[in-house]
Amino acid sequence: MTLLPQTRAIVTGAARKDGIGWAVAHLFILNGAQVVLIDLDQEMVQSAATELGAAGAIACDVSDQGAVRTAVAQAVAPLGGLDCVVNSAGIVNANRLSDITDADWHRMIDVNLGGTFNLLQSTIPALTEGKNASFVAISSMAGMRGGGLLGSSHYAASKAGILGLVKGAARELGPAKIRVNALAPGIVDTSMTRGKFGPDWEKMLLDQIPLGRFASPDDIAKACLFLASDLSCYMTGVTLDVNGGYFLH
Ligand SMILES: NC(=O)c1ccc[n+]([C@@H]2O[C@H](COP(=O)([O-])OP(=O)(O)OC[C@H]3O[C@@H](n4cnc5c(N)ncnc54)[C@H](O)[C@@H]3O)[C@@H](O)[C@H]2O)c1
Repeated sequence: MTLLPQTRAIVTGAARKDGIGWAVAHLFILNGAQVVLIDLDQEMVQSAATELGAAGAIACDVSDQGAVRTAVAQAVAPLGGLDCVVNSAGIVNANRLSDITDADWHRMIDVNLGGTFNLLQSTIPALTEGKNASFVAISSMAGMRGGGLLGSSHYAASKAGILGLVKGAARELGPAKIRVNALAPGIVDTSMTRGKFGPDWEKMLLDQIPLGRFASPDDIAKACLFLASDLSCYMTGVTLDVNGGYFLH
């Protein structure tokens, strides 16, 4: 059984083979979806689309509202509509509070929180016409626990902002039959984290995770598939923790 038959989807941040967005796009395609990929670099995103058998590839900086509007229109035209969006594009930074520059702060908020807003706002008209319409925002455990690993306070603020945005949007868009949910991964083995902790810190972290390992991108993609599919048809405005039990609250 495939879980996303006749589903037309956009997945952002999908150009890196070891990243969460790629894993989401891959699993969605295996489940019958047509997927258009969005990421920063045209060559990378095109090569990802070719390898994954995606329906399209668009280069776009999600922090640029005008560019996102254009990209969404470019994606929706060949898909013939839109049923699902997963915004996985994001950046991280570990600067201590006193070292965060004005530019660091604005870039973090503009990409992680602004990018989610831009995607959400630009896709409302198409999602309103979609079936089982679902928007999934990739937040982070950091948004609830205040960072403290590879992301510091501006990363935490950007990811916490997503949780508020998602709840407000879920409230407002429910009557239009658009579900809006957030996924909060714990530590995921991608280029964002790999080799960044060092052996001692890594061991300490693994000791604190009840399931005893970091997440794979596929673990996150499976939870995303659940939020995108009819299996979660009565869920909106939730934050789904996918952290192996590391952060229980
Ligand atoms: N890896 C983790 O441990 C972890 C944990 C919690 C949350 N997350 C979140 O999951 C998401 C995916 O992270 P990942 O681990 O796959 O990281 P990654 O760095 O492998 O992938 C992020 C992708 O987003 C793209 N991107 C960055 N800025 C962009 C922009 N302005 N416009 C368009 N695309 C842009 C990058 O090119 C990259 O392909 C991020 O939002 C991240 O904050 C990751």
